[in-house]
Amino acid sequence: MEHNASVEVQCVSKRYTDDPDVAPALDEVSVNIAHNEFFTLLGPSGCGKTTLLRTIAGFEHVSSGDILIGGQRVNDLPPFKRRVNTVFQSYALFPHMSVAENIAFGLEMQGLEKKAIPARVKEMLALVQMEHLARRKPAELSGGQQQRVALARALAPRPDVLLLDEPLSALDLKLRKEMQVELKRVQQQAGITFIFVTHDQEEALTLSDRIAVMSAGKILQIGGPSAIYERPAHQFVAQFIGDINFLPGKLARGPQNESVFQPTGLPVQIPCNPPQPLASANVQLAFRPERSQLVEPTQPHHLRGVIEAVLYVGTATLYQCRLSNDVKVMLRESNEGLNAVRAVGEPVAVHLPPQACLLMEA
Ligand SMILES: Nc1ncnc2c1ncn2[C@@H]1O[C@H](COP(=O)(O)OP(=O)(O)O)[C@@H](O)[C@H]1O
Ligand SMILES: [Mg+2]
Repeated sequence: MEHNASVEVQCVSKRYTDDPDVAPALDEVSVNIAHNEFFTLLGPSGCGKTTLLRTIAGFEHVSSGDILIGGQRVNDLPPFKRRVNTVFQSYALFPHMSVAENIAFGLEMQGLEKKAIPARVKEMLALVQMEHLARRKPAELSGGQQQRVALARALAPRPDVLLLDEPLSALDLKLRKEMQVELKRVQQQAGITFIFVTHDQEEALTLSDRIAVMSAGKILQIGGPSAIYERPAHQFVAQFIGDINFLPGKLARGPQNESVFQPTGLPVQIPCNPPQPLASANVQLAFRPERSQLVEPTQPHHLRGVIEAVLYVGTATLYQCRLSNDVKVMLRESNEGLNAVRAVGEPVAVHLPPQACLLMEA
């Protein structure tokens, strides 16, 4: 019977040392990853992404907790007995072997019949669109082509789960974008679970079915790309994914007993909808630069400020503004060819629609 989760990580902690002053690399991490899911671990350097991948692959033992693959507890299984394969950042191709030989390597050891190997290699070459380069050596390939070979080699033994540790980070931006599209296509065509590691938030948003945002050995939030972007549950997540502004202040009641936010040092009340009762009265209002609207200052709840810097980025113009309480915010206005670019020193008023306002504990 097919188990409904591909990989289950249950309350896993990992300590590399017994020194109690060193924080654990993984601190009670739990997550269930579904079959055929493109699942991404996203977080800054040192947050434990590679450690989590390595415990799933079996290269590291967990200090506590359990790892299940296809419903089977694998804590004590060595890497080669797990139906998992890894693509590393350094492609680690064998330089003296051709592309085809690199892909074939391991298939015989895995027990695939010798006469079945050429067909499997051909299938994998087709999957990564490298048929025409089968006889080349790795040194005769571009970075992107080497990455394709590494992907084909890792997929050749038909693992249930492919682990990818920052596989695109060595590529330049344009190639990286192309390979992102490729990776997604290959994952869908191969129909297997991908657990993908990146520190690049845009890459995570583009590729993933779901994302786990990690910080300091913990998973802070798990969700689809839009949920993570639209409804970040923590200040850290809000800041790590995309650009965001914060205004410190207090929640209060407006004239009709509605919820309003009073930013510290500004004589305004901003209508808002707190998502859940917040524990403290000291909160902060977070908003994305593109969700604010630059307006004529007609309403008492409009924020007032002055433009301090103008950054023209083609599709939009970014305005760094200093509000009258000295808090700096970034606002974004998309360039549709009609609006004139505003100038440094110009006064502005900002409208924050209630759906643009995210309230968080300060
Ligand atoms: N082999 C190791 N021995 C000791 N500490 C390690 C080892 N590998 C990683 N660490 C530590 O564990 C933490 C998480 O590292 P890592 O999983 O590599 O993070 P990431 O991949 O997110 O950059 C870091 O503090 C790192 O220094
Ligand atoms: Mg890493």
